[in-house]
Amino acid sequence: MEKKIFKRIGVLTSGGDAPGMNAAVRSVVRTALKNGVEVVGIKGGYRGLLENDMQILGPHDVSNVINEGGTFLYTDRCLEFKEESGMQKALKVAAEQGLDGIVCIGGDGTFRGAQDLSRRGVPCIGITGTIDNDVSSSDYTVGFDTAMNTVVEMVDRLRDTCESHARCNVVEVMGRDAGYIAVNTAIATGATGCAVKELPFDEDALIEKIKLAKTYGKRNFIVIVSEGMPDGFGEALAKKIQAETEVETKFARLAHVQRGGRPTLRDRVSASKMGEHAVQLLLDGKSNLVVVEREGKIVSRDIEWALMYDKVYKGKAKPEDIAKLDPKVYEGMVELANAKHAEFEDLYRLANSISI
Ligand code: F6P
Repeated sequence: MEKKIFKRIGVLTSGGDAPGMNAAVRSVVRTALKNGVEVVGIKGGYRGLLENDMQILGPHDVSNVINEGGTFLYTDRCLEFKEESGMQKALKVAAEQGLDGIVCIGGDGTFRGAQDLSRRGVPCIGITGTIDNDVSSSDYTVGFDTAMNTVVEMVDRLRDTCESHARCNVVEVMGRDAGYIAVNTAIATGATGCAVKELPFDEDALIEKIKLAKTYGKRNFIVIVSEGMPDGFGEALAKKIQAETEVETKFARLAHVQRGGRPTLRDRVSASKMGEHAVQLLLDGKSNLVVVEREGKIVSRDIEWALMYDKVYKGKAKPEDIAKLDPKVYEGMVELANAKHAEFEDLYRLANSISI
C-alpha cells in the first residue's frame, strides 16, 4: 500500500477503559497531523464505527487529556459488530468516512475486531490498552502501572487500619483471569500471601505463616487474591483465616476503583510511544498488526500471531488450531510461553515467600 493514500485515519478505544488510553489517542492524533493526515475520533469503540458516531480531532482536541483517566472517546459494548451484518455496516461507514486506516486501542477483543476489519480491506493497527496486562504478546499493556499503583495506595491505607486494630485484610484485585496485578501488588505491599488462578495456593501454609508471625508480635496482615479465583474465594479465605488464627479478618474488593485515575508516568510514556508507532506503521502501509512492548522496546506483531500465541500461552489452543500452524512457529510460541510462565511463577513464588 502506498504511503500517499493516507489522508484520513480513525482512532477508537474499546473494551474496558484503562488509564493512558487518552495519552495514546493524543499521540495518534498529533503524529498523524504532523504527517498531514486527518484524524477522526470514533466514539464508543466499534459501536461508533457502526453508527457513524465520530468527530474530527484537531490538535487542540487532545490538549489536556494526557493526564486524564478513562477515555474521552468512550467505550461501549457492541454485540452487533460481531455479526457479519454489523461488520458490513462498519465497512460501509469506514468507506463513506474515507478512513484509510484505524488505530484500535484495547485488549484481545479489540484486536479480534481489528483483525476482521483488516481482512476486509480496512488497515488496522492495535495498541495494547488494558489494566490486566493479559495480552500475552506484549510484556506491557497501557493502564497496568496505574492500576497497580492504585492498588498499592489502597492497600497501604488498609494496612494502617489493620495495624491499629490487629487485623488481617484479604483484598481482591482485578485482572480478569490473569494474576499479574495480584502478584506484583502482593510483592509491592508486602502481603503475607497471594492467590492467583494460574497456580496452586497453599491455604494452610498461609494460616501457619500468620500464626507464627503473630507470635513475633506482627499485628497487620494483607492477603492479595486475584478476581480470577472461584466466586466467593476471598470471602471464604477471610473467614478461614479469622477462625484458624483468631486474627479478625476483613474482606475488601477494590473493583473498578482500579480502572480510574490519572495515568502514571509509565502509562503516559508507553501510550505516547505506542501511539506514534501505530501511526508510523499505518503510514508505512502496514495492517493487521498490534503494537506491543518486548524487552523494553516498542515493536509490532501480526495480530493473527498475537491472538494464537495468546491461546497457546493460556492453554486454550485447540488441536485443530495447532494443526494449522507451521510446526516451527508453534514450537517458537511454546518456547516463548514457557519463558513467560517461568517469569510469572517466579513473581508468584516471591509474592508468597518474602513476607511474614
Ligand atoms: O479488563 C479490565 C477489567 O477491569 C478486568 O480486570 C475485569 O475483570 C473486567 O474488566 C470488569 O469488567 P466490567 O467493567 O465490564 O465489569
